[in-house]
Amino acid sequence: LPVASGTATASGGATAAAWAPPAGAMSFPDGFVWGAATSAFQVEGSTTADGRGPSIWDTFCAQPGRIDDGATGNPAADQYLRWEQDLDLMVGLGLQAYRFSVSWPRIVPTGSGEVNQKGVDHYRRVVDGLLDRGMHPAITLYHWDLPQPLQDAGGWTARETADRFGEYAAVMFEAFRDVDATWLTINEPKTTAMVGYAGTEHAPALGDLDAGMAAVHHQLLAHGRAVQAFREVGGRGSIGIALNLMPVYAAPGAETAAGNLDAAENRLYLDPVLLGEYPPEAVGPGPGQLHADAAAFEALVQDGDLEVISTPADVLAVQYYGAAGIDSTGAWLQLFPPSPAGWQQVHAEGLYETLVGLAADYPDLPPLVISENGIPDADPQGQIEDPARLDFLRTHLQQAARAVGEGVDLRQYYAWSLLDNFEWARGMTQRWGIVHVDFATQERTPKASARWYAEVCAANAVPS
Ligand code: NOJ
Repeated sequence: LPVASGTATASGGATAAAWAPPAGAMSFPDGFVWGAATSAFQVEGSTTADGRGPSIWDTFCAQPGRIDDGATGNPAADQYLRWEQDLDLMVGLGLQAYRFSVSWPRIVPTGSGEVNQKGVDHYRRVVDGLLDRGMHPAITLYHWDLPQPLQDAGGWTARETADRFGEYAAVMFEAFRDVDATWLTINEPKTTAMVGYAGTEHAPALGDLDAGMAAVHHQLLAHGRAVQAFREVGGRGSIGIALNLMPVYAAPGAETAAGNLDAAENRLYLDPVLLGEYPPEAVGPGPGQLHADAAAFEALVQDGDLEVISTPADVLAVQYYGAAGIDSTGAWLQLFPPSPAGWQQVHAEGLYETLVGLAADYPDLPPLVISENGIPDADPQGQIEDPARLDFLRTHLQQAARAVGEGVDLRQYYAWSLLDNFEWARGMTQRWGIVHVDFATQERTPKASARWYAEVCAANAVPS
């Protein structure tokens, strides 16, 4: 991604020439797909049903103090039992696609042994339910719920975990060979590596940066193995990885630091997948770099790994939440308005810059999907009137339309999230849904943003 140096200042926020949306509606190309997203651990509940094994998030939730409100994966939004109702809810909103994830420990409860047919059958019912309703399934294979026995064997620090993922992915591709789905291999490898392995806010909370770097490489290897398995099985549909990308803005004089941070946050994942190489600037002692052991990281990369990782995919899925700013010392700056998430700097134009930057930087870029984009409610109790989310979606979709108008090949968009759900370390206290969930009754109520988004889906356009 280009470093947008000079478009932001340490003190004053963005100074780039303002872009204004046109007066009328902004249309998307025919065939554009509109959907909403969730993930298994965040919505399913029923964590011991039908032979599901334990995941690292079950373990993590059971440790006192890890989750703000002490919530666990049970019942979350109870979708394992309420999936039919949720599919009908989406039909009612006119959504054309649903992005959900498959819980690996439902399919392979120990991570490496027998396949649990009951788990496969559950997702078969969901997929058939979508197809019966004329909806498109976008299926994430790994959204953070690693089978606990694999963690006991090292988790993503162990190269073998990539082998196990390839096997699990092949089981799913075989079982759904007939389905025209968009398959997403690994969701946000950066978050798992940096927040779960380097950090301690997410499972497995190792707090070890070098473990984080190993998790980067092995997750990317797992992605490549899955793409290869998809080709071998001859699966229908398309496949790619879901990366959370963040444009980096430099304070005056911070161009080097910003370039380093862009390498650490974005290119560390994009370059191996799209170019077959790691960016040398990502790791090192300088500002904006990951201060990890570069030699140890290099030693993980075996002959042929980068070829596997860069096996051509059909799509690149982008998750966009906001921007980052950095000064010359490597300190992160708050340049744009914060959302209630605590980590999100809201900057719609950064989505446009990310999309056009990808197209400019990667000549063999496959078609793009926006697989997540959203903000949490201001009120932790939840709200039906959510003007801030509506405004967020509108401004981001306008920037997406702007990028499409300049030739970016964007095919699908998924709002995060369909439902209020289990927001990881924030538990149920942070609500990201376009549909409100009353967790006492599990009643679903579309928020104002969902009603507005239904108009977008119907018109294939962002209303003015
Ligand atoms: C990205 C993650 O993929 C998703 O699970 C999470 O809920 C959202 N960000 C919001 O934090």
